[in-house]
Amino acid sequence: MKLVVITGCLGLIGSHVTRKCLELGWQVYGIDNCTYAANLQFIDEFNLCDNFTFIKQDIAELKHLPDCDYVINLAAESHVGNSIIDSTDFLHTNVNGVKNLLDLIRKKPKNIDDMPIFFHFSTDEVYGDIVDGEHRETDNLNPSNPYSASKAAADMLIKAWSRTYGLNYVIIRPTNNYGIGQYPEKLIPLSIKLLMRDKKIRLHNKGEPIRNWLHADDTAAAVITIIQSGLKNEIFNVAGVFEQKNIDTVKKIINNFFNQEVAYEDYLDLSYERLGQDVRYALNDKKLRDLGWIPKKEFDLELKDIVKFYKQNFKW
Ligand SMILES: NC(=O)c1ccc[n+]([C@@H]2O[C@H](COP(=O)([O-])OP(=O)(O)OC[C@H]3O[C@@H](n4cnc5c(N)ncnc54)[C@H](O)[C@@H]3O)[C@@H](O)[C@H]2O)c1
Repeated sequence: MKLVVITGCLGLIGSHVTRKCLELGWQVYGIDNCTYAANLQFIDEFNLCDNFTFIKQDIAELKHLPDCDYVINLAAESHVGNSIIDSTDFLHTNVNGVKNLLDLIRKKPKNIDDMPIFFHFSTDEVYGDIVDGEHRETDNLNPSNPYSASKAAADMLIKAWSRTYGLNYVIIRPTNNYGIGQYPEKLIPLSIKLLMRDKKIRLHNKGEPIRNWLHADDTAAAVITIIQSGLKNEIFNVAGVFEQKNIDTVKKIINNFFNQEVAYEDYLDLSYERLGQDVRYALNDKKLRDLGWIPKKEFDLELKDIVKFYKQNFKW
């Protein structure tokens, strides 16, 4: 049996990782400070499991780390648009929060506990954008916005804590995640919310940026694959099954929303530009696939259920 601390357990990916660990019978300490992005319904769901304990706490203020094999860190400020307006919370959680967790791990009294492995969620955005080809784990980091800069800073801290203090880590860099449980500031749930309110979807840069889509359940499966492999001090990219322009994603959302092909342009406002906009992200994740992981969810099929869910469970 494994003991895992999962930070950000009430967020999109954190909830999927928590669910998978609980299903495996692992003991899970879920830590989340319940920001606006947290889905509080997950507390009720997870509390039904005897192997779950919840702690409401800010990772930057945490003073005690329960004994565990892994600290899986998904707590983060995760929305690029918010970071462009004000990056204060991003530096607090994504940088100082990570530093606090690293220090709690390295200061573990070794006569009582083992030093847990720090399993950190980074992002494809730390590499910056790429017009052709794919980024590999060994590529230089070249972030484009305050969010990705804060994530790249955390990756650097982890490498330094590993070299200086002998801390063991895994860094995972997934592409754009989607799934049920995402706060409606991200493209899919936000578009559905706006359609329900008879408002236009504000699409940046004419919808031209390309994103690679990965279901949060597939991301969670990647975590389990890496933990079960026992590998440490490695970085893994995690790519989705396919990529498409944001305008094509939104077109599918609109058609699913109305259950028929409609003149989707009528539902769009294309007058917005995002500062520092990345045109395309793409990852090579052969290293992870060589461990046997493959993404199983199909975007078009999942999207139907996601649109239906958010239509029936209005979130704002
Ligand atoms: N969603 C994506 O497309 C995506 C893609 C690549 C990487 N990532 C990374 O994966 C991780 C999880 O992303 P997500 O989309 O599930 O995030 P999310 O925004 O859905 O959830 C983040 C969770 O962290 C919690 N949190 C925020 N600050 C905290 C703090 N200081 N202390 C404790 N809890 C705090 C929030 O309450 C929330 O429950 C993040 O590190 C993110 O950078 C996300």
